[in-house]
Amino acid sequence: MPELELPDFFQLITLDRVDSTNEEIKRRAELGAVDGSMVWALEQTSGRGRRGREWTSPRGNLYCSLLLRPSYPASKAMQLGFVTAVVVAELVAETLQNSARVTCKWPNDVLVNGRKISGILIESSSAGGTTLDWLAIGVGINVVSHPQQAESQYPATSLEAEGAREVTLPKLLERYCRCLERWISTWNEFGFAAIRQAWLQRAHGLHEPILVRLENETFEGVFANMDEDGALVLEQNGVNRLIVVGDVFPANAGIRG
Ligand code: BTN
Repeated sequence: MPELELPDFFQLITLDRVDSTNEEIKRRAELGAVDGSMVWALEQTSGRGRRGREWTSPRGNLYCSLLLRPSYPASKAMQLGFVTAVVVAELVAETLQNSARVTCKWPNDVLVNGRKISGILIESSSAGGTTLDWLAIGVGINVVSHPQQAESQYPATSLEAEGAREVTLPKLLERYCRCLERWISTWNEFGFAAIRQAWLQRAHGLHEPILVRLENETFEGVFANMDEDGALVLEQNGVNRLIVVGDVFPANAGIRG
């Protein structure tokens, strides 16, 4: 494996295979790993997605988790999901350098031509009080393969399927880290407003009818906006409803469990 050139902040731990990079960073966090520790694995045997779903993780795709020890409250830390989505969208767009439409699907997915290419899993732990003990940003990017429609909740794609050639994982990870550092600085300097603006420029399905699925309920409305805190604003018969957690689909999509 070549030596990676990462910004100083990142302390890289490279693993051939692990259950889940988020699990690994969590274990290391509990043992005192420092802010900026980054686990990168070539393969995951129990990759996890949002809301308890599986993230299929064969060799060839990117799986990494970054540990942060934030000094800000949990509510603000959750904005990092949108920061990361903006970063991944920029990275994917730069890598493809073609006419592919790279969009951000609320809350944290990145799509290419309407198909999911990346997932982001933010997990955190608080020792009590208002600040977090640690926060993990887990990112998976489909580089050479992607789940088939039948296994996945949403149609998926990969960089290779979208025409990218000669993408190497070390170079992709280097660019991800640089871009993440840059956007975290922007967030620190200008606040969530700057992130929200960049995210909205790439928003998938804005002003269109969508289905929102919560744990026990599915309903329809128009994706009117994302508010100043990252909640999805759903317009239903002229009334706005704020969605803070859930999955969204185009209104005409057949959705699976
Ligand atoms: C989702 O879209 O449901 C989120 C998927 C997140 C997958 C990444 S891969 C690296 C990290 N380790 C995990 O087990 N999950 C995240």
